Amino acid sequence: MKCFRILVLPGDGIGPEIMREATKILLAAGKRHCVEFDIVEAAVGGASIDEHGVPLTDEVLRMALDSDAVLLGAVGGPKWESLDYGVRPERALLRLRKELGLFANLRPAKVYSPLVDSSTLKREVVEGVDLIVVRELTGGLYFGTPRGVERLPDGTERGVNTLVYTTPEIERIARVAFDVARKRNKRLTSVDKANVLETTELWRKVVTDVSQYYPDVELSHMYVDNCAMQLVRDPAQFDVIVTENTFGDILSDEAAMLTGSIGMLPSASLGRDSRAMYEPIHGSAPDIAGRDVANPIATILSVAMMLKYSFDMQGASAEIEKAVEVVLEKGYRTPDIYTKGTRRIGCSEMGNIILDELEAVAI
Ligand code: IPM
Ligand code: MG
Repeated sequence: MKCFRILVLPGDGIGPEIMREATKILLAAGKRHCVEFDIVEAAVGGASIDEHGVPLTDEVLRMALDSDAVLLGAVGGPKWESLDYGVRPERALLRLRKELGLFANLRPAKVYSPLVDSSTLKREVVEGVDLIVVRELTGGLYFGTPRGVERLPDGTERGVNTLVYTTPEIERIARVAFDVARKRNKRLTSVDKANVLETTELWRKVVTDVSQYYPDVELSHMYVDNCAMQLVRDPAQFDVIVTENTFGDILSDEAAMLTGSIGMLPSASLGRDSRAMYEPIHGSAPDIAGRDVANPIATILSVAMMLKYSFDMQGASAEIEKAVEVVLEKGYRTPDIYTKGTRRIGCSEMGNIILDELEAVAI
């Protein structure tokens, strides 16, 4: 029997409760397909700060490097917000991304038809939306140097962050995006601010150069401000969007809301040597933590992405997606996606119902 080692990092806030549901689904999917998942759990983010004084210990980083895939919940919360940037919970995420070389972040935003009325946008705008944001994850403003805040002789301060990309960094993310587009509707929109920022002018040039290897994929370019507007004006026009780290952070939150709730969106972060981490794109939601009202679907769909991208288990992945769809069709909703006439349930019940459904779908 195949056996994969999974490092599970529940993190903070709603992290532990959504992760409980997601690991149930992972184990059940493994059982159905005769694959064993050896799950090792560790603290990350605020939980790790409380226990070890740092958001990510070297030991947990080593465990991540030694595992076949990492599944992460969410990190952060008001308790740790006053800490120095260098030791905040979010640093754990950034260090994991960097050390594992996870440069490609795939964030699909799909509107499930039973949820069209959960979106804050009109039904006719969001109906049929099925796009994916490919966000560069280990470069740009997040990691560029020089960075920091310095005190000037006149007593004022000066803050600096650097938007930097090299040709190889742009090339490799462009290739991932073209490959993704090739398996979908073959339309790729590269998002930049080439009218103002030199770095993204280079971005546009390199993406255009890479496009010659993908004559079957239709490439277009869009400025980021226009893209932000188009995402709420006519989101169905998009198939695959590729963009740099910060733009991708912002646009993927915006894309998430098309689907009704940020609680629905999974993500995959992929690197070299088949390294990968999977996580919901939402945060730790400390305001609702521990009340059994969080939506576990983003994390459950992240498990589906893990099966597809890390373990080539397309069938098992599709079954989980199907189970989620059926449960939504049956009218079950966590509070974030609740609309009148549907059945409001909690986090653990949602997990259990999806599990039952998964067990019922035919292989
Ligand atoms: C995300 C999050 C992170 C990011 C934060 C928590 C550091 O917003 O994954 O989108 O900015 O990348
Ligand atoms: Mg974000």
